[in-house]
Amino acid sequence: MPKVELHAHLNGSISEETLIKLIAKKPTDQQEMLQKLTTHIGDGHNRTLKECFEMFKMVHQIVNDHESIYEATCDVIDDFANDGVVYLELRSTPREIPEAGVTQASYVETILQAIQDKSSTLQQIETFDPKRKPIIVRYIAAIDRRNSVEHAMQTVDIAIRMKKTGLVVGVDLSGDGSVNDARELYTVLEKALAHGLKLTLHLSEVDGLVAETSRLLDLPPQRIGHGTFIHPNFGGTEELLLKTRKLNIPLELCPTSNVKGQVTPSYDKHHFYSWYQLEHPVVICTDDKGVFATDLSTEYQIMQKTFNLTDKMIQSLAYLSIDYIFESDSVKDRLRRYFEGWQQLNQ
Ligand code: IMP
Ligand code: ZN
Repeated sequence: MPKVELHAHLNGSISEETLIKLIAKKPTDQQEMLQKLTTHIGDGHNRTLKECFEMFKMVHQIVNDHESIYEATCDVIDDFANDGVVYLELRSTPREIPEAGVTQASYVETILQAIQDKSSTLQQIETFDPKRKPIIVRYIAAIDRRNSVEHAMQTVDIAIRMKKTGLVVGVDLSGDGSVNDARELYTVLEKALAHGLKLTLHLSEVDGLVAETSRLLDLPPQRIGHGTFIHPNFGGTEELLLKTRKLNIPLELCPTSNVKGQVTPSYDKHHFYSWYQLEHPVVICTDDKGVFATDLSTEYQIMQKTFNLTDKMIQSLAYLSIDYIFESDSVKDRLRRYFEGWQQLNQ
């Protein structure tokens, strides 16, 4: 089934295979240490969200120059295309790596180069053909909440500057929810909106962020990452639920990330169903397919099995996700026609 992936962090999405390939290109004296790091990643075991943030730091030690950023991006795009993803919004936090001459701007330029080299043309998203695997890719500049407000402002300024490429579509707020108060980033995020960028924010991924989430919903963002603790059934409040529903803000849901990150006790206790029953827009996503050892097809299958959804319901979830991409109506129309072509062949 053709799918759109709207919540994928670049460095969390790198497969074990790609990490091994990148390590082999590092100086020999570093290889043993880096290999130890990937053994942890490859097992796909459950670990607390805090431990997951340590894993991202490990990946950052492997993806630490222009070449590895470029190669990782190309491989991640290939992985998603092979899983039937036709439209991908890839997010990543621009990282300075002074010893490798990487600046926030050159970090983003490298990703955009890889996107340009790997992306299909819009014309290729025409009629569904099982032999071809076209993919359109866009970039979302991520702000890691543990960084300073100045760093976040630089990220937004770069995104604004590079918006004219047509490849930069939005800004994300992510990182460890227990670190810092994201309300301090309100004006930075507001600036992104004012310049025509879309916003997707990790809101209430962890418990205890009601005041922060309530304030950030005032921006408002066009999409919410996780929103695990927004619904009152899940430790949220009626006020947060009402705000989210009134604005009809889609939720990007990443079941395996929540279960393996131990934010959600089990798949059947995932907040997906409470929102689905309300007919609130939800989009199934992967978050970090590398670190959580999953892919988008698997996430759909898990939701189907866990909540007894019919094939039609799953297909409809995938089709409706097109409504929430950060792209124009003409791109949405193209993706819809492509999906309908697949449906005709699979009735
Ligand atoms: P990068 O931005 O491409 O380096 O991808 C890894 C980064 O994504 C991490 O360092 C976090 O800031 C962010 N990230 C990945 N998964 C999550 C999540 O579940 N919650 C919040 N932030 C996340
Ligand atoms: Zn995320």
